[in-house]
Amino acid sequence: MIGRPAIRSERLLERLDRFAAIGATARGGVNRQALTEGDRQARALLTELAGARGFHVRQDEAANLFLRRDGTDTALSPLLLGSHLDTQPTGGRFDGALGVLAAFEVLEALEDASVVCERAQEVVVWTNEEGSRFAPGAMGSQAFAGGSLPAAWRDARSPDGARLGDELAATVAALPVPIVPLGFPIAAYLELHIEQGPVLEREDIPVGVVTGIQGTLWLDVEIEGQAAHAGTTPLEFRRDPMRTAAAAMAAFYRTIMPSDPEARFTIGRIASEPGSVNAVPERVRLTIDLRHPDAAVLASLAGRIEDVLRDVAKEGGCQLSIRRLVDMPPTAFPELMLERVEASARRAGLRSRRIVSGAFHDALYLARCAPVAMIFCPCRDGISHNEAEYVEPRHVLAGATVLLETALSLIGG
Ligand code: GLV
Ligand code: MN
Ligand code: MN
Ligand code: MN
Repeated sequence: MIGRPAIRSERLLERLDRFAAIGATARGGVNRQALTEGDRQARALLTELAGARGFHVRQDEAANLFLRRDGTDTALSPLLLGSHLDTQPTGGRFDGALGVLAAFEVLEALEDASVVCERAQEVVVWTNEEGSRFAPGAMGSQAFAGGSLPAAWRDARSPDGARLGDELAATVAALPVPIVPLGFPIAAYLELHIEQGPVLEREDIPVGVVTGIQGTLWLDVEIEGQAAHAGTTPLEFRRDPMRTAAAAMAAFYRTIMPSDPEARFTIGRIASEPGSVNAVPERVRLTIDLRHPDAAVLASLAGRIEDVLRDVAKEGGCQLSIRRLVDMPPTAFPELMLERVEASARRAGLRSRRIVSGAFHDALYLARCAPVAMIFCPCRDGISHNEAEYVEPRHVLAGATVLLETALSLIGG
């Protein structure tokens, strides 16, 4: 190593502003959903910045994007650092972008200080982490860890009718960079992310050392009844899927989260067809997002949800179909990697605490093929998946510094 690398926080903050302008919303957030024009623009900007620093840009068939700073020993697998650039429809400026741009800042800091490493260092932008436009979420990292892109995913449709396979092909074609095979070997994976919850801010601790990720299950529920005239059809002649959905929802909201403080239950999307004021709907579709840190409890809650749905559908004379869009088991990160992050925070003079992630992240899938560590930054009022999401500049600097220190500990700096 020649100089001591350091994060330049003004450069990183300026980058966060620049990327937040791509898909900026009127209320200060970002709408840059996976594989949209905005996502492509963000990828193009990062590719340009990487080119200016002499980093090699490549992508794979899942449109995961890689920016490599060479090491001296090409036989060694690279250290990978990154996150995602896609956002929720009304997302914030930091969820995902912080991890990608802090990782890029780490590479620039190494470059500025002319640090020579045996092992290459590589920033990754995972495709479609959010999963809100196309399910499942964490699609790119899952494909990378599994070494293939399941054919069925290509036919996934967004709420606006776009087909994933087409959007993926257009996104890959938009960047004229070499294609690498899905799932090449890596030495380790590091991800910085905002906490997306209130713990670190409440305790005034700048660094969260993520011990693992709780389990997530996404269900796509379709209840089919019979369309009928709203004014003329008496109750006993109705097969009303809305009534069935309402009965199920009342049971879920009454029992799942209040009775288990660790459970997280959300219905984020609901639609009825044909959606006419004066017709009993023919069909109601809703999504369920269910999470729990304990795999057995998650499975038993899922079973209860399916039982309730079956019972109320039968009672209401409706047909039921339930599809599992996401089934992510709880994941623990290796103890040695946690200790590495803790030591890095200590070296940087920053207080840290261990914390379980309530959100899923690409690191969950990377943990299947490499040692993984995640670092959390506090965020204001614990708010995320919201345009008001905010991370204080001092916390951005702290998170990026621990990311750099942890990277150095893995590449011999
Ligand atoms: C990913 O954004 C999640 O929902 O945890
Ligand atoms: Mn995220
Ligand atoms: Mn998110
Ligand atoms: Mn996430």
